Amino acid sequence: MIKIKSSEITSKAEYLSRRDFLKTAGIVTAGAALLAACGTDEVPAAPPTQSLPTDQKTAPLSEELTPEDSVLNYNNYYEFTTDKERVAGLAKDFKSSPWTVEVSGLVNNPKTYGIEDFLGSFTIEERIYRMRCVEAWSMVIPWNGFTLASLLNEVEPTSDAKFVRFETLADPDQMPGLVNKLYPWPYQEGLRLDEAMNDLTILSTGLYGETLANQNGAPIRLVVPWKYGFKSIKSIIKIELTAEQPSNFWQDIAPNEYGFYANVNPAVDHPRWSQATERRIGELKRRETLYLNGYADEVAHLYEGLDPNKLY
Ligand code: MTE
Repeated sequence: MIKIKSSEITSKAEYLSRRDFLKTAGIVTAGAALLAACGTDEVPAAPPTQSLPTDQKTAPLSEELTPEDSVLNYNNYYEFTTDKERVAGLAKDFKSSPWTVEVSGLVNNPKTYGIEDFLGSFTIEERIYRMRCVEAWSMVIPWNGFTLASLLNEVEPTSDAKFVRFETLADPDQMPGLVNKLYPWPYQEGLRLDEAMNDLTILSTGLYGETLANQNGAPIRLVVPWKYGFKSIKSIIKIELTAEQPSNFWQDIAPNEYGFYANVNPAVDHPRWSQATERRIGELKRRETLYLNGYADEVAHLYEGLDPNKLY
């Protein structure tokens, strides 16, 4: 499980000297600042700043943090635009404060939280996770956040609660992408209750030690690292415990292409492209995609009854 404090991450100086060694040894084949181009997936170049610690079990030494500049400027946030490189600019004036999140449905203690309540009540940790987009690109991001389980334990799901449904704000005055009526706004997502309670599942309020930027889903978003990135819903205003399996934005648009579970699985191709490999932002060569995005030890037991060769 990846749970690392920033103090445990290799320092920039150590990182740079390791890079020098690799360069001398001829292992770094192209400049670190060069980025792979894959159609419109091209992103602004920036040198990596840190590496993962060498003793990290699920993140081998070769996996570096994605440069902050790329995390901030290559985004999917359809409420603003479908153009990844324009999200940051269009979201610049988004008002993420004051903000409340209603936690309701099948719970004993329904409550509407302000962001300050979350920051005051729950332990904010740093979690370094891979993020694998269903479009076959990926990043490694140092998130700041708290476990969804800590929130759910506080509101106490009733015995009838089996799923958790999340909803993003839909404010046409602030979100220009909402004019596109072909999409089923508001963006919504869902998890099974045991997935939501898993220790890897967090609500993020920041990344790279900074408050979450608007384009990354300020002020609070979900991060579920073993699932395709679209499950990690941004700018959440509502969390609802339900008995029925909720639908999700992408499943509503194309049920033959996107499922409820959306677990990262290299063996199950998207109907229009392969999921066997991915383009790690900042790298030239494609990487093999890992089953459950490399988190099988932590979460494979959740899916024991499901056929791993099917789209769920
Ligand atoms: N949440 C909302 N509300 N709207 C979106 O368009 N895009 C999803 C997910 N969460 C999306 C969203 C997709 S497809 C991905 S890959 C990630 O956010 C991207 O997160 P990032 O831009 O912070 O890297």
